[in-house]
Amino acid sequence: MEKGSISPIFWKNGKLVILDQTKLPNREIYRELGTKEEVYDAIKTLAVRGAPAIGDCAAYGLFVSARNRKDQDLASFLKGIREDAEYLNSSRPTAVNLSWALKREVHVLEDFARGKTEEGKTGADVVEDAKEILLEEAHKIWNEDVESCRSMGEYGLSLLKPGMGILTHCNAGALATAKYGTCLSPVYLGEEQGYGFKVFSDETRPLLQGARLTAWELHRAGIDVTTICDNMASIVMKNGWIDAVVVGCDRMAANGDGANKIGTSGVAILAKEYGIPFYMYVPTSTIDLNTETGADIPIEEREGAEIREMWYREPMAPEGIHFYNPAFDVTDAKYITAVVTEKGVVYPPYTENLPKIVKQG
Ligand code: MRU
Repeated sequence: MEKGSISPIFWKNGKLVILDQTKLPNREIYRELGTKEEVYDAIKTLAVRGAPAIGDCAAYGLFVSARNRKDQDLASFLKGIREDAEYLNSSRPTAVNLSWALKREVHVLEDFARGKTEEGKTGADVVEDAKEILLEEAHKIWNEDVESCRSMGEYGLSLLKPGMGILTHCNAGALATAKYGTCLSPVYLGEEQGYGFKVFSDETRPLLQGARLTAWELHRAGIDVTTICDNMASIVMKNGWIDAVVVGCDRMAANGDGANKIGTSGVAILAKEYGIPFYMYVPTSTIDLNTETGADIPIEEREGAEIREMWYREPMAPEGIHFYNPAFDVTDAKYITAVVTEKGVVYPPYTENLPKIVKQG
């Protein structure tokens, strides 16, 4: 799949490289992350963002931190890596892919360390081998993300028809993953097959992922994209221009409630009112069966300055007032027509069907 093949995070010549998304759409700047602090910062400031991409970045980030460590024995290396993983995990709370990727890295390391300890090999040379284990696992996570997005593109396209008007919120495209995206993957695939979709991208206040990122990546791929302010979703639906809503997800609870970018739940409620199908794209790495319902998902709160002064030449609200800036909201399972995963499309009842797809090989 050529369209959507831009990669916002990758490993090149022994270096972790990211496309700095805070600079888009005006400047395409790639930079290296060489320390765990730089990785933490890139995730926290949304230079790297989107649930799967955050997981990919954290996995490579743990190797970057390992490479900088000077431990001479396996036990102190393992202890240090556990601490570094906790530190990276504290960069953002909502996207479960972050902790999922870090836990996976720590587990392979623990398995390796257990084996070597049993053999009585725990010295500095084994520490170097242990570092390589982390890099290999990060490559696996990245490659699986690419495959998962490709597969979601195919399953997702089976739900769409040529010429459809599609509304999306935030950015769950190539820029949010290793490649192709989750909910934009079928759009790229359909475009290659001449589907001629007309995509509407919600601007997505306050950080404008829809205007800055979704519109940027679709436009550069030659896809027809129209950006609207968030408060225009109702009118485009009422005008009959939207046949389907597609969005990503940061964490789906076991009952099918899904946290995604703030504003998603409102779009889902509108879609239900207008009889438009609402599809949430959720790789199984984003399904958290340990979280029972949406009420248990931690929601990140960010600085009021993002509302008051970011993007404006002058502050656009008085000084001294309060701001409430949750970065995500939870869409109740009852508004989600279907969940698209890399293993297939899941329909309600989600409490029954999500565990089945997660466990499916
Ligand atoms: O704050 P962001 O930009 O990281 O939020 C991203 C989203 O909400 C995406 O829709 C979600 O992570 C899914 S990405 C495939």
